[in-house]
Amino acid sequence: MTEPIAPLAGKVAYVTGAARGQGRSHCIRLARAGADIVAIDACAPVAEHNGYPPALPEDLAETVNLVEGEGRKILAEEVDVRDLAGQQRVASNAIEQFGRLDIVVANAGVLNWGRLWEISAQQWQEILDTNLTGVWNTVKSVVPHMIAAGNGGSIINISSAAGIKAVPGCGHYCASKFGVVGLTNSLAVELGEYGIRVNSVHPYGTDTPMGNDLSMYQTFQDHPTYIYSFSPGALPTESLAAPDLVSDIVVWLASDASSLITAAQIPADKGYLKI
Ligand SMILES: NC(=O)c1ccc[n+]([C@@H]2O[C@H](COP(=O)([O-])OP(=O)(O)OC[C@H]3O[C@@H](n4cnc5c(N)ncnc54)[C@H](O)[C@@H]3O)[C@@H](O)[C@H]2O)c1
Repeated sequence: MTEPIAPLAGKVAYVTGAARGQGRSHCIRLARAGADIVAIDACAPVAEHNGYPPALPEDLAETVNLVEGEGRKILAEEVDVRDLAGQQRVASNAIEQFGRLDIVVANAGVLNWGRLWEISAQQWQEILDTNLTGVWNTVKSVVPHMIAAGNGGSIINISSAAGIKAVPGCGHYCASKFGVVGLTNSLAVELGEYGIRVNSVHPYGTDTPMGNDLSMYQTFQDHPTYIYSFSPGALPTESLAAPDLVSDIVVWLASDASSLITAAQIPADKGYLKI
């Protein structure tokens, strides 16, 4: 049997952290597979201790151009995932404009460095608020619309290899990404009866502004043994993975090709988690 050319034709995908990096790549690839896109991003500084630059409004504008270049429609708004009312407003606007929501990629995230007892309460809270509460805000905003539409769907939460394997130097990030796993699996059980699947994806080093954050090297310099927790993985490359390779997994999870998969943790790690 031949594969359909546009396996997501007629579907609508809601993507957070869509201005650049993996989020932008997911928007483009979901659009290429036939979906219209709802894209949000803060497009502003989101955490005081980040060692890499924030996304800008022109980054989100470029995502819009690229999705439209794929021949699909896109509704894009500058909204922080910590803003529940903002996400609820966008989800309602999406239903008004497109009539449905089928695919959700909760991708927005932040990473910074420091030992657990040395980071400030603010540094802890900023990471938890975006990486975990932000995902819950997304879920709370989109799920009632998905249930009401009665079309089933696929929710894909972007965790991290650090959401399965504990790593030193970013324990607050680990805690947030392990939290995404618990949220994912409980939600999968709750949404099973509605035909909505919920899975998490666990990238390792990926070639984005976050993945190229040089401030992590200060942590390795201060605590040289931590480097043993960051192997290059099993495959013969030491380079960061292209975001497009993570999008391969996201598009698969969004499509009926993964219809048996829910409450699963899908690694995008070149075998790193086994080393
Ligand atoms: N890059 C890596 O090596 C790597 C590895 C594992 C997991 N991840 C995860 O992948 C996801 C995407 O990260 P990326 O590598 O593309 O990073 P990135 O920094 O390039 O992109 C993240 C995007 O999310 C947005 N964002 C951050 N906080 C936000 C908030 N509060 N509200 C709205 N938007 C917000 C940013 O503005 C940015 O556009 C994140 O959840 C990250 O934790 C990344």
